Amino acid sequence: MQVTVYNCRPFDEKALFEDYAKELGLELVLCKDAPDLDNVALCKGSRCVDVITSRIDKALVRAFHEQGIEYITTRTIGYDHIDLEAAKECGVKVGNAPYGPHGVADYTVMLILMSIRKMGAILGRTALQDYTLMGLTGRELRDLTVGVIGTGRIGETVIRNLSGFGCPILAYDLYEKETVRQLADYVPLEEIWEKADVITLHTPLTEDNYHLINGDTIAKMKDGVVIVNTARGALIDSDALIDAIEQGKIGAAGLDVVENEFGLYYYDHKSDILENRELALLRSFPNVTVSHHMAFYTRNYVETVVKDSLTSCKLYMEGQKNPWEV
Ligand code: NAI
Repeated sequence: MQVTVYNCRPFDEKALFEDYAKELGLELVLCKDAPDLDNVALCKGSRCVDVITSRIDKALVRAFHEQGIEYITTRTIGYDHIDLEAAKECGVKVGNAPYGPHGVADYTVMLILMSIRKMGAILGRTALQDYTLMGLTGRELRDLTVGVIGTGRIGETVIRNLSGFGCPILAYDLYEKETVRQLADYVPLEEIWEKADVITLHTPLTEDNYHLINGDTIAKMKDGVVIVNTARGALIDSDALIDAIEQGKIGAAGLDVVENEFGLYYYDHKSDILENRELALLRSFPNVTVSHHMAFYTRNYVETVVKDSLTSCKLYMEGQKNPWEV
């Protein structure tokens, strides 16, 4: 039973793929590149391909099918990068590999703490052996009200993590959950803008919430509010965020995602002049922590997606019930 794996990262995935393949009795073809029409022949002899978020469009789905592929599994939660209609037309099945919410939830709390304790500025000074205190007064989380927007898997886990800090927690979601109600107060969005000292975002990006945080909503927030985004960049209007940071309205921000990050993040751009001016500005502020969309990236995540995606191929090939098939 052979599986062709594309986008196999040599530094963290390759050894795991080899170990799990041995455990599951699978043979692998490992390719470090994304699948395309030039390398599609690498999957000849396999019934399954294992991919990540590179685009799998109609032409590629058909090309996979022509090589004999019956099942595409993606080592991601989302599968909107795969043309599902084309897959259906060819009779190719698709599966995903959901991983736990804890990595992103932990990272979110880290960004909140880094923001309220001015950790970016502290690390900057330490690097220069400047051990002075002036300007580094932090705030304690138990004194702050945190507003959590989106109480799905990640948002709820953030609330669970925060509950140990003793801070009041306000929550907003289109659908309320009893488990969340035990730890936080669901309130209308307006109340989050007005009362929260820290606002953290955990919704998917939809047409309805594009630029949810914009000039108008920022104007309703408390002075010095902290904004944390580990969800999707376009939930925040970057220009409005930059204006509000420059005016001192926003006290700090922790951003694992930014608008127009696609094509920048996960590549080495050391010598390049980037087109994303907003990112350059945001990176330049001492009270903004920027990371490159990696809140999910833990050992647990890598092991889970590698193991589950291979297990799902095996179940498919054995004709067994497959919980990962979408
Ligand atoms: P989920 O689907 O479990 O929860 C999303 C929640 O948002 C649901 O409860 C839903 O009702 C709510 N929601 C949807 N639209 C809303 C709106 N307009 N207003 C208020 N609530 C709304 O999703 P999950 O797994 O918790 O992911 C949350 C976000 O985190 C997503 O944007 C996802 O893409 C992002 N994410 C980021 C990662 C990173 O590494 N930075 C990794 C994984 C996910």
